[in-house]
Amino acid sequence: MVESHLIGAQHDTIFEHAYPTEAPDLRRLYENAKRDQWNVSKDVEWTQPFDIEQGVLADEMIDIYGTPFWDRLSPAQRSELNRKFALWRLGVLLYGEHGAMLVCSQLVEAVSGTDAKFFQATQVVDEARHNEVLNRYLTTRFGDGLYPMPEFEKELFDTLLSDKRWTVKTIGLQLVAETFAVALFRMLAETSKDPLLRQVCKLILQDESRHMGFGMLSLPDVVGQMTDAERKEMEEVTHWALVKTLTGQFPAQVYQEVGFSEREIKEIHGHRRERAAGAEGSHFRKLFRKDLHGTLLGNLQRIGLLTERMRPRLESVGIRVPSMA
Ligand SMILES: [Fe+2]
Ligand SMILES: [Fe+2]
Repeated sequence: MVESHLIGAQHDTIFEHAYPTEAPDLRRLYENAKRDQWNVSKDVEWTQPFDIEQGVLADEMIDIYGTPFWDRLSPAQRSELNRKFALWRLGVLLYGEHGAMLVCSQLVEAVSGTDAKFFQATQVVDEARHNEVLNRYLTTRFGDGLYPMPEFEKELFDTLLSDKRWTVKTIGLQLVAETFAVALFRMLAETSKDPLLRQVCKLILQDESRHMGFGMLSLPDVVGQMTDAERKEMEEVTHWALVKTLTGQFPAQVYQEVGFSEREIKEIHGHRRERAAGAEGSHFRKLFRKDLHGTLLGNLQRIGLLTERMRPRLESVGIRVPSMA
């Protein structure tokens, strides 16, 4: 398995020579971050017993739940699928935490102003803890072995890490990827079968509202001052990141391992895409989508990127935009 890969970086590093507080809102986020640190080694009950045989996620979180593909599986096969699906799903989040740590370490360099730099320095530590806690959870419950980093995720992070502009990094990470991750962690924190996983997700969520907060505080002014052409480019970046995040995730290997044929996997994939675009799916999926889409639309509006041009783009990934008249 690939254990690391290299990405060329291009951004400029801004070295500040004066350190006044210029953005009190960002400074407050920084203060909150220092106040609310938790420790993976001390604040998690790692010894909570749990029988992993039943799987760790709510079955409703699995794509094929409620379809004939699910119905025909035996209870043992369903648990096996649950475990493998969880290992894949949490692995995607684990790699994402590592990517987030790297993007934020670049943001420390690339953003201007002490307040933004200090806050980003705390997000680097936060993401390191998320990387650490998920890795420890996976090792505790599953032992060794991870699915490889999926292509969509590698492409997303490689692009963010190699783009020169901090705005692109922040839109990709704090606006799109983290909004998705927050909706997912919320769902996992509320519905997972394993109490340890619920605890881990709740702890991660404590930090995430600050991270989204950074995007919401730092982007509106910059986007407000952009030319129409520049704004259009940011809309394109947003759309691209949304397409990668919302439509790129599919654990074909997991389905293969539990015995589905190539043809069936294609059908499952098609079915998943249809459901992602429409309103069907399990109760949990509907709640997840409602939460995710609502937060995304609110954030896009605050930043100034919810333009008429964005409507068809958002609708192409299944996000219905209320009338903007
Ligand atoms: Fe994180
Ligand atoms: Fe985060």
